[in-house]
Amino acid sequence: MSKKLFIETLGCAMNSRDSEHMIAALEKEGYETTNDMPSADLILINTCSVREKPVAKLFSELGVFNKKKKEGAKIGVCGCTASHLGKEIIKRAPYVNFVLGARNVSKIRDVLHKEKAVEIDINYDESEFAFDDFRTSPYKAYINISIGCDKQCTYCIVPKTRGEEISIPDELIIREAQRAVDNGAKEIFLLGQNVNNYGRRFSSAEHEKVNFTELLRRLSKIEDLKRIRFTSPHPFHMDDAFIEEFANNPKICKSMHMPLQSGSTKVLKDMKRGYSKEWFLNRVDKLRAVCPDVSISTDIIVAFPGESDADFEETIDVMKQVKFDQIFSFKYSPRPETEAQHFENVVDPVVASERLSYLQALYTELLDEKSKTQLGKVYEVYFEDLNADGYVSGRTDNNLVVKVKGSEELLGEFRDVKITQIARTIYTGEIVG
Ligand code: 5AD
Ligand code: SF4
Repeated sequence: MSKKLFIETLGCAMNSRDSEHMIAALEKEGYETTNDMPSADLILINTCSVREKPVAKLFSELGVFNKKKKEGAKIGVCGCTASHLGKEIIKRAPYVNFVLGARNVSKIRDVLHKEKAVEIDINYDESEFAFDDFRTSPYKAYINISIGCDKQCTYCIVPKTRGEEISIPDELIIREAQRAVDNGAKEIFLLGQNVNNYGRRFSSAEHEKVNFTELLRRLSKIEDLKRIRFTSPHPFHMDDAFIEEFANNPKICKSMHMPLQSGSTKVLKDMKRGYSKEWFLNRVDKLRAVCPDVSISTDIIVAFPGESDADFEETIDVMKQVKFDQIFSFKYSPRPETEAQHFENVVDPVVASERLSYLQALYTELLDEKSKTQLGKVYEVYFEDLNADGYVSGRTDNNLVVKVKGSEELLGEFRDVKITQIARTIYTGEIVG
């Protein structure tokens, strides 16, 4: 009988892909996944440490898992919090069997057999590791194009959990994409902390210096590949050649994530983001000039140390000018091993909460205004998910989530859908072609 693996994945899409790599390796050890934690022989939590809250939650969750797990089941803590807390995790939760950092995913089969192993080397190079193949979705394939991050954003812990940035050789990426397409995926989703910095460093100096724009061109030659998405690009690296390739390459989905973080040039400087408010707005203008239907999403941090009312107003100003299609917004959370944790002029937590609420309310107001214009429009939708209530959902090229009445025959198919109902970010429609 096969052994059961329960895996909880927190954080970003890179973590989702790391989990897929671990599932693939553990299949070789005779494990199959289950959603029922108490029946599992192995419990993994793939953690995120970008903000403080999930880290605090980890230990209470570990306690619950330890109480409810079946006798003899192992618990492993993986991911970014594993990288930054290391053996501290076993100190605080002695029943944890192993700790595996975000850049040590390929060692999962080793640590499984070593009691109390802690593998968290952030200099470990997995950029050319031949991971086994497992995909949660047959329709959309996540593909890593780089590991680590070379930026020094003063608020961010990621360079300390995922180490320095190394690009994966393009021929490996193309081979992986081709294999996913051969297995039926019509969409690939390229992943990296800073995708448009692709090609600056490979693990071997001899590797051809292909940049992100060129990588996109090469990938789009794959026959039967219909859609390419990627995340996250950095506004600093959005040069004209990249924006033009984005606009003119019909396989690239017209949805761009542009993490603003702050609209104040002073705060951006304190964050070491490398661009100004004007540069960001200039890139949005350029993008919309060449690609009028593009949808733009963003990340915003409010109440970074030293953010004045006037600085916050600058963020609001950018929100009003750009009218983002989607925002992910957070209160600044001080993180260990970052520069900003030592910054003075910490913003009062009440003010921080007020700013976040104000920003989110403005976003929904702007969004509601914008989405009204979508009613009756027809979009091509790629169906990926079967919902429980007799609906099937998918995404438009510009990343709207649309559901229609239907069943599994629609999965992996493209259809023209007319939008008939909008409830904030959930669009309902009917197939017209
Ligand atoms: N506090 C709050 N938000 C953060 N992010 C990264 N670090 C922090 C932090 N210390 C946000 C950024 C990033 C997203 C993934 O998480 O907006 O783009
Ligand atoms: Fe979280 Fe960042 Fe690590 Fe992704 S890379 S899991 S967002 S800390």
